[in-house]
Amino acid sequence: MKDHSPEDVLILAIESSCDETAAAVVKNGRTVCSNVISSQIETHTVYGGVVPEIASREHIKAINYVIERALAEAGTSLADITAIGVTYGPGLVGALLVGVAEAKAIAYAAGKPLIGVHHIEGHVAANFIENPELEPPFVCLIVSGGHTHLVIVRDYGEFEIIGRTRDDAAGEAFDKVARAIGLGYPGGPKVDQAAKEGNPEAIVFPRGKVEGSPYDFSFSGLKSAVLNYLNHARMTGEPIRQADVAASFQKSVVDSLVSRAMLAVEEYGFDKLAIAGGVAANSALRAAMAEACRENGVKFYYPSPILCTDNAAMIGSAAYYEYRKGNLAGWDLNAIPNLKLGERG
Ligand code: KG4
Ligand code: ZN
Repeated sequence: MKDHSPEDVLILAIESSCDETAAAVVKNGRTVCSNVISSQIETHTVYGGVVPEIASREHIKAINYVIERALAEAGTSLADITAIGVTYGPGLVGALLVGVAEAKAIAYAAGKPLIGVHHIEGHVAANFIENPELEPPFVCLIVSGGHTHLVIVRDYGEFEIIGRTRDDAAGEAFDKVARAIGLGYPGGPKVDQAAKEGNPEAIVFPRGKVEGSPYDFSFSGLKSAVLNYLNHARMTGEPIRQADVAASFQKSVVDSLVSRAMLAVEEYGFDKLAIAGGVAANSALRAAMAEACRENGVKFYYPSPILCTDNAAMIGSAAYYEYRKGNLAGWDLNAIPNLKLGERG
């Protein structure tokens, strides 16, 4: 491989926690040598969401090819790889198992160390890839299909959770509202797109607050408000402007996310804020957060959209920091579908 010296740590990373089969080669935690993603979205679209059994089968079909391509695109081979990193939770158990079994088999056969990575730790690490100067501590807003967490990243892989959703995750809210207004699956990107044509002030939806917990989120009330609005409009025969509903809903979510994140940065005295997870790809969130950070003199970090949604490059980055700490997994590494953040199974 070009530009590679014997001291470099090359991680082959594998991610299969949901509906993306992904493999990547990452050098020294920050340089992406390859990043291959095989999406199953089209297979699941007809069902309106991810079907776990189908996801597992699709991972099995794709994984060897995806890994071979990741190695080939990086211009390397297993012999040059330092260690194998793999997502072992949280996620769909059958989907996770495909990646974990594959990583164990490769690591064992090639005599390489194995590293188990927390999927959400991976999402946070996506920020290290394009921001070489970013180092902990900083505040991070993690917004994905399954998680909405406000954390202080104390050190690599060390998180203090200061806020979380009490009900739906932000991405889940996007997906449910998208379905309700007929945009289909996957909802987040479609709402993002539709909202560009809509008026965010057209409908005033509630900004979910959790009494006494200033950093917590709640999106189920917002989702109900959107459903009530749609029912009411249908009953009274009022026209429903899909783009206005999308833009107004999105504005409510973005306001909630930005206000909590800015409060955390201010109250805890940080001058660095990062966002992570699939919803971090949302154009309105990125714009609003950038503006709030500019106004408050806070440095704002965000991954490219392709590194926000599920990928293995972020897993390779997180695996590197676990490797440096000596956190290696045994051959008994198992998939943990409900693995908590900051917990090692
Ligand atoms: O991080 P991710 O790829 O998978 C999980 O770990 O959950 O996040 C997927 C979530 C989905 O709910 C999807 O609708 C949402 O991220 N998402 C978006 C956008 N792109 C993906 N939500 C809003 N705007 C987007 N542009
Ligand atoms: Zn994810």
